[in-house]
Amino acid sequence: MSDKLRIGIIGLGTVGSGVYKSLEKFDNVEIKQIAVRNINKPRSVEVPREILTDNPFDLVNNPEIDVVVELMGGVEPAWSYIETALKNGKHIVTANKELLAKKGEELFNLSEEHNRVVLYEAAIAGGIPIIMPIKTILAGNKITKIQAILNGTTNYILTKMDAEGASYEDVLADAQRLGYAETDPTGDVEGFDAAYKITTLATISFNSRIKFENVYREGITKIRKEDMQKSNELGYKIKLIASATIDENNNADVRVHPMLVPKSAMLAHIDYVTNAVALSGHPIGNIVLSGPGAGEFPTASSVIGDILAIAREFGTTEYLLPMMRCHHHSTANPVDINNTYNKYYLSITAPNAIGVIAKIGAICASKNISLSSILQKGVNENNTAEITVITEECLEKSIKEVVSELTDCEVNSLIRVM
Ligand code: NAP
Ligand code: HSE
Repeated sequence: MSDKLRIGIIGLGTVGSGVYKSLEKFDNVEIKQIAVRNINKPRSVEVPREILTDNPFDLVNNPEIDVVVELMGGVEPAWSYIETALKNGKHIVTANKELLAKKGEELFNLSEEHNRVVLYEAAIAGGIPIIMPIKTILAGNKITKIQAILNGTTNYILTKMDAEGASYEDVLADAQRLGYAETDPTGDVEGFDAAYKITTLATISFNSRIKFENVYREGITKIRKEDMQKSNELGYKIKLIASATIDENNNADVRVHPMLVPKSAMLAHIDYVTNAVALSGHPIGNIVLSGPGAGEFPTASSVIGDILAIAREFGTTEYLLPMMRCHHHSTANPVDINNTYNKYYLSITAPNAIGVIAKIGAICASKNISLSSILQKGVNENNTAEITVITEECLEKSIKEVVSELTDCEVNSLIRVM
């Protein structure tokens, strides 16, 4: 057996390049082979031509490789490569949150069947160490609540639009250039990426499997600059929040959507590409982990941590890293978003007529919704008025009924409030 851990990497893009550059410092790890889509593509790293292949099956079938590091993304063909690698007795390190969210159960069952580990620190919150702490030092806790900012791209966009008045398109292009965004940024801005991450994070935190299809999701594309300005005036910041709670009957409310976060709350001050994860559990109470959520080197830090964790134990035991494994979980019962209670921000354009505010108040009252503030500043030139309402906690189904009954007004935005 070689005295070095022999790895094969699939993908040499943003994350793969960061891993390649950073691994040069470690003499206990040898990169045996790297698979890419296009061998001739110019890259930010110089890699010996003889270790490159454009067929990842060469790598997952290579008997001289101990660990496959999957950094290409997506479900297929990544799943086929990982499945073959596990069946060939290789350990896996991956940053692929989509695959974990959609195929996690199959993946961990297969890895146990073949007595191999799958490590995925980089898949959730980039450079923040979160999986390893939950699986090891926090293992004695019953975690019941997560509130997090899990997507660097959207947090970067929202911060730049708010703080610098930048346009959505310009900031998104900037996030792509900096290597924060997914290959198709729809995954970021429509909340899929954060939904993948909270699926896995909630599963391991609650020790109860969350199904990705049960995660409620809204992205940031409908957030208007006017909403940001108004939120600021009212003492809030708008953030894309991934949250999850579980009750004693295994009912899990797991979701991703924009929220008005009070400026007094810590998550309101997590800016640009920074992510943060707030966990509540017993006996620890509340804990927050924060750090860079995306980008070449922060993500490489997590991938390398996983590779080194395997390198440290490789060859010393038949059953590697027992605490990092995913054993059988119960499956949580999903909670329908319509049955949840939240506070809401409503932005309404109404005709400038006598009694319009009273009418909004009356419709809300008829649905058992109490208002915590209602604001109108003057009248528009076209004889309409911008009215902003913040409700107290009420049923989601009821606020949607209010929106559908405000027939002579235009409801510009409905955003949940933390
Ligand atoms: P990327 O820059 O688009 O790189 C993807 C790499 O995969 C490229 O090198 C590409 O080859 C290769 N690839 C794609 N399809 C392939 C195929 N069929 N066969 C062989 N190679 C293939 O993506 P990335 O940003 O590095 O992200 C990689 C993974 O890390 C994704 O799962 C992503 O969600 C995750 N992640 C990214 C970040 C981040 O900040 N970027 C953070 C955490 C997790 P070519 O270079 O030849 O095109
Ligand atoms: N596209 C992801 C983000 C990369 O912006 O957070 C990190 O997972």
